[in-house]
Amino acid sequence: MKSLIIANWKMNPITIGEAEKLFREVEKGLKDSKKAELVICPPFIYLPFFQNKKSLIKLGGQNCFFQDKGAFTGEISVLMLKNLKCQYILIGHSERRHFFSENNSLINKKIKGVLGKKLIPVLCLGESKADKEKGKIQAVLKKQLEAALKGIKKENIEKIILAYEPVWAIGTGKACSPDQAKIARIFLKKILSQKFSRSLAEKIIILYGGSVDSSNVQDFIKEAGFQGVLVGSASLNYQEFIKLVRLI
Ligand code: PGA
Repeated sequence: MKSLIIANWKMNPITIGEAEKLFREVEKGLKDSKKAELVICPPFIYLPFFQNKKSLIKLGGQNCFFQDKGAFTGEISVLMLKNLKCQYILIGHSERRHFFSENNSLINKKIKGVLGKKLIPVLCLGESKADKEKGKIQAVLKKQLEAALKGIKKENIEKIILAYEPVWAIGTGKACSPDQAKIARIFLKKILSQKFSRSLAEKIIILYGGSVDSSNVQDFIKEAGFQGVLVGSASLNYQEFIKLVRLI
């Protein structure tokens, strides 16, 4: 099975010229890549420039609003993203939770909105540094997961992708150890198995995110058993990103 590599460009780069160059270089550098499924989540405004249906790179949104249209100043709907050929949408990224006060109930509505339009939600979960120091990793993951999945039909659960992203590892250059990430991955599977069924839990794809680069990507996929990675900073440098994908 192919590994899923999602590049989260966040609020970068600052011009369309740079964004196009980054996208085209990745496309060119990885055109013969067979082992990975590639998704790029650029800032919304760049999506119209990346509409080539034949591209090997799939598109994703970094966020969305769950209503289709209307008086929601500053928001972008799932439907708009679908019309711009997005297939994946990141939901509940820690930067959304932290800087924009997104709570579990809003995240739950967004997941339902994404599923309702038949797109794939990538639910980001992870403990903060303080949670980790207090020994609350599993309690936090359980709470975030259960709240995000509340009221979602069993047949839809398997369409959701999870991304374990410890907040303290994001953008810090200090990735989680593969052992610790593996424990979190197994724990998430256990919760899914208890809540739904073992066979359903087995089907769910779990990614790791948080300071992934070419020096550690193999640890998460080969050692810790993740089916892919969510990459922030390292996806902004095309040489580094191409190297990372080629290592899988
Ligand atoms: P990072 O970001 O790779 O820069 O740590 C990952 C993410 O926020 O998804």
